[in-house]
Amino acid sequence: MKNPLFTLFFFMPLVTMLLSMNIGLVSGRCQSDQQSLLLNLKKTLVFDELASIKLVKWNSTPDCCEWPGIACDDGGSGRVISLDLSFEGITGGLDDSSGLFSLQFLQNLNLSFNSFNTTLPVRFATLTDLISLNLSSAGFIGQIPNDISKLTMLVSLDLSTNYFLEGPVLKLEKPNLATLVQNLAHLEELILDGVDISAQGSDWGKALSSSLPNLKVLSMSNCFLSGPLDASLAELRSLSIIRLSSNYLSAPVPEFLANYPKLTALELSSCQLNGIFPQTVFQIPTLEILDLSFNELLQGSFPEFHQNLSLQTLLLSDTNFSGTLPQSIGNLEKLSRIELVGNNFTGTIPSSVANLTQLFYLDLSSNKFEGRIPSFRRSKNLTYVDLSSNNLTGEIPSGHWEGLLSLTYVDLRYNAFNGSIPSSLFAIPSMQRIQLSNNRFGGQIPEFLNVSSYLLDTLDFSSNKLEGPIPSSVFDLANLHVLELSSNKLNGTVELHLVQKLLNLTTLGLSDNNLTVIASGKNSNLSSLPQIKMLRLASCNLRVFPDLRNQSKLYHLDLSDNQITGSVPGWISELSLLQYLNLSRNLLVDLERSLSLTSLSILDLHHNQLQGSIPVPPSFITYVDYSSNNFSSYIPPNIGSQMQTFQSDSFEGNPGLCGPPLNLVCSNTSGSTFKRRSNQRKEFDWNFLSAELGSIFGLGIIILPLMFCKRWRTWYYTHVDRVIFRVFPQLDKRSNNLGRRAQRNRRRQ
Ligand SMILES: *[C@@H]1O[C@H](CO)[C@@H](O)[C@H](O)[C@H]1NC(C)=O
Ligand SMILES: *[C@@H]1O[C@H](CO)[C@@H](O)[C@H](O)[C@H]1NC(C)=O
Ligand SMILES: *[C@@H]1O[C@H](CO)[C@@H](O)[C@H](O)[C@H]1NC(C)=O
Ligand SMILES: *[C@@H]1O[C@H](CO)[C@@H](O)[C@H](O)[C@H]1NC(C)=O
Ligand SMILES: *[C@@H]1O[C@H](CO)[C@@H](O)[C@H](O)[C@H]1NC(C)=O
Ligand SMILES: *[C@@H]1O[C@H](CO)[C@@H](O)[C@H](O)[C@H]1NC(C)=O
Ligand SMILES: *[C@@H]1O[C@H](CO)[C@@H](O)[C@H](O)[C@H]1NC(C)=O
Ligand SMILES: *[C@@H]1O[C@H](CO)[C@@H](O)[C@H](O)[C@H]1NC(C)=O
Ligand SMILES: *[C@@H]1O[C@H](CO)[C@@H](O)[C@H](O)[C@H]1NC(C)=O
Ligand SMILES: *[C@@H]1O[C@H](CO)[C@@H](O)[C@H](O)[C@H]1NC(C)=O
Ligand SMILES: *[C@@H]1O[C@H](CO)[C@@H](O)[C@H](O)[C@H]1NC(C)=O
Ligand SMILES: *[C@@H]1O[C@H](CO)[C@@H](O)[C@H](O)[C@H]1NC(C)=O
Repeated sequence: MKNPLFTLFFFMPLVTMLLSMNIGLVSGRCQSDQQSLLLNLKKTLVFDELASIKLVKWNSTPDCCEWPGIACDDGGSGRVISLDLSFEGITGGLDDSSGLFSLQFLQNLNLSFNSFNTTLPVRFATLTDLISLNLSSAGFIGQIPNDISKLTMLVSLDLSTNYFLEGPVLKLEKPNLATLVQNLAHLEELILDGVDISAQGSDWGKALSSSLPNLKVLSMSNCFLSGPLDASLAELRSLSIIRLSSNYLSAPVPEFLANYPKLTALELSSCQLNGIFPQTVFQIPTLEILDLSFNELLQGSFPEFHQNLSLQTLLLSDTNFSGTLPQSIGNLEKLSRIELVGNNFTGTIPSSVANLTQLFYLDLSSNKFEGRIPSFRRSKNLTYVDLSSNNLTGEIPSGHWEGLLSLTYVDLRYNAFNGSIPSSLFAIPSMQRIQLSNNRFGGQIPEFLNVSSYLLDTLDFSSNKLEGPIPSSVFDLANLHVLELSSNKLNGTVELHLVQKLLNLTTLGLSDNNLTVIASGKNSNLSSLPQIKMLRLASCNLRVFPDLRNQSKLYHLDLSDNQITGSVPGWISELSLLQYLNLSRNLLVDLERSLSLTSLSILDLHHNQLQGSIPVPPSFITYVDYSSNNFSSYIPPNIGSQMQTFQSDSFEGNPGLCGPPLNLVCSNTSGSTFKRRSNQRKEFDWNFLSAELGSIFGLGIIILPLMFCKRWRTWYYTHVDRVIFRVFPQLDKRSNNLGRRAQRNRRRQ
């Protein structure tokens, strides 16, 4: 007792304890030693006071049992048994010396969604009463310590991380999974998504089946597991949820999965599954969620669906399923989400789909469905319908869509629908996107009634057989971003300044109709147009170059096949984002002197009357066509060698033009003897390429920096591709092989 400090420290707890008994009597249930431990914990934790909603309020009342995030036991002893500090913006201050580990009565501890950024303290092992431990995305890193296996009371253990954002930050190597779970016989929930386990099927399967007889929830997606699913897993009879997505299982799906009596969710997407999927799994009476997406080698077909099945979510996109959708799908009364994108399904979409009253999200795109579509009017909650890229036919009765007050998205592109456009689609106030392009819809575009309330942002009717005028109410759809009406038989006159009310318009396509677009003249001041990115006005009877000098966001401009005379204006070079410029098939005679084309990747000037020396394209341009003009003079050698990459027909049909890459040696006679073959030229499919460019350049800005991040790339390959392909289905077929290769590559990483 020589040291006064020692004395103080020795007696301090005793003093606090005595004091606490007093306070305990006076103010609520909280034991004061528990309270001081909590206050001490708060003091040591480093947290963001603005993000915190619990810690900041501690000490606001005398009874710590009432503090947010805390629960005490029912017996009135004032012991803190639950601590929930999830989402508190904690960035540090937890190690083996933390007061947290003196809260010895804790049964439930939730530190999820913080940024501790340290290894898991081994002293978690001292909290031996723990029933649930939730360290999901808490920011702990490195090897999971063996000591966690001493928490033998655990019923729920969540060490998951969001693999796509954080990558594998925790790992189970030494100890491995078997060691971790060997004493956790009470465990019902094991949630390890994103933890690097790197185990073979027989190892992890046997580890679980031999130690965790009560397991109900097994969640180990993105855990670097390999297959196959070990047969011993069949012993885990209580399993209700199995999530093993994004592991390299590379094996068939075993029949025994169908024998779990309580299975409600089976998620096996991106697992490189192969073989034939057992149909009996579809018939598990308790099964609500089935996700087999992105298993391109997995074959299968649907069985008959009995009544009394529970399926709500059926996700089979990008697998190798085939066959038909049975009429008995109408028995799946609870079905709310169906995604079957990119398979080989054939036959009709059964009329019984009309009986799926809970249907919320339906995506059957990129299959081989044919025939007519069922009515959706009984599916009152329907929000999303994508039937694009099939072989669907027939008229769509307007009544099919009546009264669907939640519908926001309808994509019927790339089918063979005919008849008139179902006008009931326009009467749905929630509707945001209607895409009907590349069908055979005819008749007139109906007027939009009551347009002021519309949320409509995309109207794509291109490549159909629509006739008559564009109804004026279209130009009142104030939220429109995309108005694409190209390649129809629309007629009449459109004053371009009409779109000035569409403040958010970014894409306007009126090409290839029988329209007369007025883009100049005293009533046509284009300076107040919205900032458009993609403007397609090919074959619009334009006679004057429209004044688009204020369109600083323009990256795609198609004015081809008009009767525009005069010069190509110099202000074009000020459109710094312009990548695609098509002025072919006009009556243009020259390029204004100030014109330079530095940002372009595609330039088509063919079939005009352009004269003078040939314009120098920027060095990264990917496509250029100067053919069928009056460009005279030779191609200067420095430009010629830069343009060796272009085929000579980019320059053909300029009687005065000679030099490489043309096979014409400049001589006195070469110009006049040169024969053009313009009728043999293949017309380039601009729509196709520009869509591709749009996606590449548009997304490129976001994607490029992220491409360096491996785990983001993984996510990108599985998700963004699909987004792109849905937006541009014509790319899908071509890129299919590419996508699959990318997926295979990521497995190897
Ligand atoms: C985590 O801690 C390490 C050092 O322990 C430090 O280098 C790193 O920047 C920290 N990361 C974050 C996200 O705080
Ligand atoms: C914290 O985790 C537990 C289970 O570990 C859970 O019951 C609780 O709802 C979680 N808290 C929050 C706020 O999500
Ligand atoms: C862990 O906490 C998070 C967020 O608070 C919650 O979403 C998750 O469901 C919890 N885990 C378990 C197993 O309850
Ligand atoms: C898809 O399944 C068909 C049989 O239905 C088979 O012929 C084809 O090879 C499979 N494709 C792949 C990529 O496995
Ligand atoms: C469905 O369940 C009901 C009762 O819930 C039962 O009467 C009926 O026989 C069951 N039908 C089938 C086909 O299992
Ligand atoms: C569709 O089936 C054909 C032959 O049956 C097969 O070659 C092709 O790979 C399948 N396509 C898809 C997307 O599964
Ligand atoms: C829809 O269900 C009812 C009974 O619930 C049945 O009588 C009818 O035939 C079903 N319709 C279709 C198209 O399957
Ligand atoms: C629509 O969804 C809501 C909530 O999402 C639900 O309460 C309602 O029962 C559903 N209606 C139908 C007809 O499915
Ligand atoms: C689409 O269906 C028609 C008959 O309705 C058929 O002739 C055609 O071959 C089908 N096209 C494809 C790609 O399956
Ligand atoms: C537009 O086409 C419709 C038929 O599609 C025709 O009746 C009408 O006369 C045409 N109008 C003009 C101005 O050509
Ligand atoms: C549409 O434009 C208005 C006015 O410029 C703007 O306030 C609004 O945010 C835009 N909406 C969207 C979805 O971009
Ligand atoms: C285009 O419209 C004009 C009248 O404005 C008409 O004479 C011509 O036949 C139409 N062309 C086509 C292809 O419909």
